Formats: sequence, structure tokens, C-alpha cells
Amino acid sequence: MKEALGRAADWIVAAERVVVSTGAGMSKESGIPTFRDAMDGLWAEYDPTELATEAGFRKDPRRVWSWYAHRRRMIEACRPHAGHFALAQMERLLPSLLLVTQNIDGLHAAAGSADVVELHGSIRRLKCLDHAHPFAGAPVPVENGDGGAAAADDTGLSGDLAGRVPNAPASTEEEEEDPPPCPVCGSPLRPDVVWFGEMLPERAVERAWAGAERCDVLLMVGTSGTVWPAAELPRVARAGGARVVEVNPEAGDFAGAVDLFLQGPAGQVLPALLDCVGRRLGAQRGRQGQS
Ligand code: APR
Repeated sequence: MKEALGRAADWIVAAERVVVSTGAGMSKESGIPTFRDAMDGLWAEYDPTELATEAGFRKDPRRVWSWYAHRRRMIEACRPHAGHFALAQMERLLPSLLLVTQNIDGLHAAAGSADVVELHGSIRRLKCLDHAHPFAGAPVPVENGDGGAAAADDTGLSGDLAGRVPNAPASTEEEEEDPPPCPVCGSPLRPDVVWFGEMLPERAVERAWAGAERCDVLLMVGTSGTVWPAAELPRVARAGGARVVEVNPEAGDFAGAVDLFLQGPAGQVLPALLDCVGRRLGAQRGRQGQS
């Protein structure tokens, strides 16, 4: 692994542009319940693919809203792990680094990543059903793990943390809640996530694909490569001449589109990779200082 980490760090330090693409495995060590883990207790009897659709929401807004409130409470109890912080530090060391995620938990922003392209939206952001008016409630500071508070923002593409819904009771998980009305148009608020059958946010797709086409290194972390269109990114990157590095305890389904496989959990591999990158950048800057 040491040799592979060194090679990956060499590629990253030599790269003009680096893209990092993360999936559900990135949040595993933060204890984020996966899509199906959240089908516990009261929710066990429902089909998540039914709940996570606009039709499901229109059919029973109270139920879908309550399920997301249940998931939001579970996610808000979770914290970024060392891998999230390593990516935030790498972004500071490598200004060209673009972070793209399929995750909706907002943990990259909570760890301090300043610019996160959220392909599947964010469970912490709300919008209305009929016109997608963003609900820009008062930002909610998020503990970023070292007691600080990652500032929330409302630029839309980063993991901004929309305000708590007015009069959202800190209810027990058994209570169901009605979605509040949009303050602008009155239609019900919904989570700003991509539901089954919905298009991905156009701007997020544009940035992710443009980044993959132009990058020299694509680092894929904790994604199985089975969910489209995000699964296409490694092929797009390779077609543009990039090298593809995968971080995962087990290899994903990328059909040979990976140049280097760093086997292990994100919370261990990413800090080790950051260490290698940091040493190389330090040595490089030392040499430049001497020349
Ligand atoms: N570190 C890194 N990777 C891990 C870890 C870990 N600690 N634990 C598990 N993994 C890997 C698994 O081996 C798997 O390859 O994370 C990957 C998770 O795969 P998926 O659950 O398919 O997640 P993802 O690829 O992100 O696709 C899920 O589909 O359910 C929809 O929209 C939802 O964004 C979500 C997407």
C-alpha cells in the first residue's frame, strides 16, 4: 500500500487539475445510515424507492416529509471523519481540486470543504414542490468535529445547510409531521435531493463533467460505480487522458477504468494520502525556495 500511496501522491502533486468523486462509502465511517438503513422501526414496512419519489410525496406528503425528518435527525447526529477532513485539507493545498459527491449528508461542507458539487442534492437543504423556491431559513451552524462551526452558506452548490423548518418540533421519531408551506408560493416544502426519476441538478452535472474531462487525476472514493450517471465519471476522465485512482475496501464495478486501487476505508486511506501529498509539496516548495 505504501508504494501505491506514493504513486498516487506523485500523480496528484504533478497534476494541473484533480477531481475527487465520493459516494456513500465516504460517509460509512461517520455512521451515516445508508438509504436502506433508514428503513428501520416505523419505516421498515415502507419501500424507500416509493418514498424517495415525487409521486410518493404527492401521494402522502406527511409520510415522506416525516421520513426525511427522521433521516435528517439521524444524519445531524453524525460527524465528519478523518477522511472528510483530509479532503478539506487537500482542497486547501491543491486549489484546482474539485470535489464532487453523490452524498446528500453535507459532511464534506461540515469538515470544511469550501466548494462541494452535490450531484444528488442535500438533505439539509429544502425547496418547494411546485417551483423549487429554495427555503433559505436562517443558516444552521454545524459542528465540524473540532468544536468549530463550519459556516453555512446559501450558494446552492456547496453543502449549504438550510435553516430548520419553522415550528419543526424536535419530535420523537414516531410522530409524523406535515411539510410546512413555502413562504413564497405556499406549496409544500420538500428536501432538495434528487428523487428517483428526477434529473440531476444541471449546474452540478456541468461542473462535474467539465472537471472530469479536463482533470489529470480522478480520485474516486467509496462509490460502487453502479449508480448512473455518476458511474460514468471515470470513463469521462480517462477519455480526457486522466489517471483514475480508486479508494475502497473492495474494488468497485468500473470495468478496468481504474489505474490504481488503494484498498482500504476512506477514513484511513485519505489521511495517509494527504500525508504523502503534503510531504511532496513541502519538498517541492523547499527546492523552489533554494533555486
Ligand atoms: N470507505 C470507502 N468506501 C467504502 C467504505 C469505507 N469505509 N465502506 C464501504 N465502502 C464502499 C463499498 O465497497 C461500495 O463500493 O462504498 C461503496 C458504496 O456503494 P453504494 O452504496 O452503491 O454507494 P454509491 O456508489 O454512492 O451509490 C449510492 O445511489 O442509493 C442511491 O442516490 C443514492 O447517492 C446514492 C447512490
